[in-house]
Amino acid sequence: MTTPALGVCYYPEHWPEDVWERDAARMAEVGIKWVRIGEFAWSKLEPTPGKLTFDWIIRAMDVLGRHGLKVVFGTPTATPPRWMVDKHPAMLAVDAQGRRRGFGSRRHYDFSHLGYREEAGRITRLLADAVGDHPALGAWQTDNEYGCHGTTYSYSPSAEAGFRQWLAEKYGNVDALNQAWGAVFWSMDYNSFEQVGLPNLLVCEAAPAHDLDFRRYASDQVAAFNKVQFDILKARRPDLPVIHNFMSRYTEFDHYDVAETLDIASWDSYPIGHLAVSDEPDEIKRLYMRQGDPDNAAFHHDLYRAVGHGRWWIMEQQPGPVNWAQFNPDPLPGMARLWAWEGFAHGAEVVTYFRWRQAPFAQEQMHAGLLRPDSEPAPAYHEAMQVAEELKSVALDGLANKGRVALVFDYQSEWAWEIQPQAKGFSHGAHVRALYAAFRKHGIDIDILPPSTKSFAGYDIVAIPALFAWNDALREAITEFDGHLLIGPRSGSKTENFAIPANLAPDLPSNLLDVKVARIDSLDPALDIEVRGSGAIHHWRERIETRANVVIEDVDGWPVLVNQGKLYYLGASGNRALVQRVVDYLLAETDTPTLNLPAGVRCRTRDGFRIYVNYGAGPAALNAATDEAGYVLGTAEMPAAGVTVARLARAG
Ligand code: GAL
Repeated sequence: MTTPALGVCYYPEHWPEDVWERDAARMAEVGIKWVRIGEFAWSKLEPTPGKLTFDWIIRAMDVLGRHGLKVVFGTPTATPPRWMVDKHPAMLAVDAQGRRRGFGSRRHYDFSHLGYREEAGRITRLLADAVGDHPALGAWQTDNEYGCHGTTYSYSPSAEAGFRQWLAEKYGNVDALNQAWGAVFWSMDYNSFEQVGLPNLLVCEAAPAHDLDFRRYASDQVAAFNKVQFDILKARRPDLPVIHNFMSRYTEFDHYDVAETLDIASWDSYPIGHLAVSDEPDEIKRLYMRQGDPDNAAFHHDLYRAVGHGRWWIMEQQPGPVNWAQFNPDPLPGMARLWAWEGFAHGAEVVTYFRWRQAPFAQEQMHAGLLRPDSEPAPAYHEAMQVAEELKSVALDGLANKGRVALVFDYQSEWAWEIQPQAKGFSHGAHVRALYAAFRKHGIDIDILPPSTKSFAGYDIVAIPALFAWNDALREAITEFDGHLLIGPRSGSKTENFAIPANLAPDLPSNLLDVKVARIDSLDPALDIEVRGSGAIHHWRERIETRANVVIEDVDGWPVLVNQGKLYYLGASGNRALVQRVVDYLLAETDTPTLNLPAGVRCRTRDGFRIYVNYGAGPAALNAATDEAGYVLGTAEMPAAGVTVARLARAG
């Protein structure tokens, strides 16, 4: 059981010490319980090699603690100081064009550089020793946003050496590597692991299995980097959770693997900035420019709940305009409140606003905080206070309810289709998100599942779109599942070594699913193919051979959706209308209860409550749901950016 709470990110090193006390007092007044500090402060903690100046941060913790605030202590390893680069010049990553990246911003390190990994462990151990028993300490954060600014991959000598060793461990002998990579094609055979290079600066593309193995290697380095800190922090304080803050639509490493050494997953939610930098259609960008995409934050809440094995936070919550998109609109009044409520609806334990006071200097001076640079409250200050007050009256103590529908999300499938899209821009994540939005439109609770899931028991519907390769766990889960299962397009179309399976896609036993993908029709996104009934095929069409029942076919008579019992195969990527049609069909087949939500309104249930949020730019009126017993916050008439909480008649 966890009681939701608010937090804020604070940088005591940015402000004169005499303002800390007043800052802390005001945080407590707002109703904030958690304060994250430390994550960029290395140059102030160790200004020259070995000279430790931790006294100030301990005093800052004293001040925060005096006001009843709990500290999330961030290890400062995302910003090694300048002297570190002199000490380890090779710690700087090298980009795909072979250029070494420089000092002067942040994240200037190479995950493969073992000397830097050791330094990161060293500062983590010193800090853990120094602050580990501080009474205000409540949690740790490792580093900050692994991979941000394109930092997962490095094409350095350290990466090359590490990759070779990783391959030797994986394959044992180089013939096995040649076999797995299909090296006979184009005479790419190697005689030793020492001959293998990184997949950059080649004449044309690398063998896809080479590229995929490099991405797996790079992902493992992020996990190994995190593990060093996790082990140190847990050894020092086994009772305190270790958290990392992940990002939106960021897939360069496998987050499930990294989270093996985390207690809680968190992510940094900037709904307006994320929409602005996304590839969503202009129409959506215009409609939601001051609110953010109504499904993107929720999708990540559910994803990180899975990554965190059920435990997750929002570590950074947008408070107002950000500074990093091309244009950075002001949120609608109320959005800083709505986003927090939506986080709690999906089971967040803590929602931490970024940041306390807007910095008047350096890179992020145009990024809002809860306070303006002159320390006057910005709009989000009052909204955070409102949330803190409201949380007192709505006793959201339980967990996010288990969904009726689950979607499998897999990082390696993102890499696979980046490596070999076949249709430009084909993406696993885009397929998962499209299904997510189509289910969520009906007010359905959705869970995200990792590809290591062994059982789908308890779900009405599970969907596995665009998953590149099966593994044993998923095959077992598919075989045993007695609910409705939607597979495809492109699922099971490769082996784990990135080759076409002998049975062809989707490579499931024909007694389960009698479908073979015989040929691919990859389509320019401007040229959709109509489907009989409604909807259109967009981007990707499969010519499938099947004796299964055809549910939907296209205007050329190609099967689009087929089923064999409760197993459905979708042989195309759909436009929004087609995805919605497939989802609506499955919901009708399964009798899954749905809600009739006004456009722009979304909801999720947590414990005995249903929390509605209105992303629309205007008011919306809720239709009464039969499983509700009245509203405990807000009413059926929702203003723009409104939040309404209904009590469920039976706890779900
Ligand atoms: C995050 C980052 C923060 C800050 C913020 C600005 O990506 O973790 O340090 O830069 O963005 O929106």
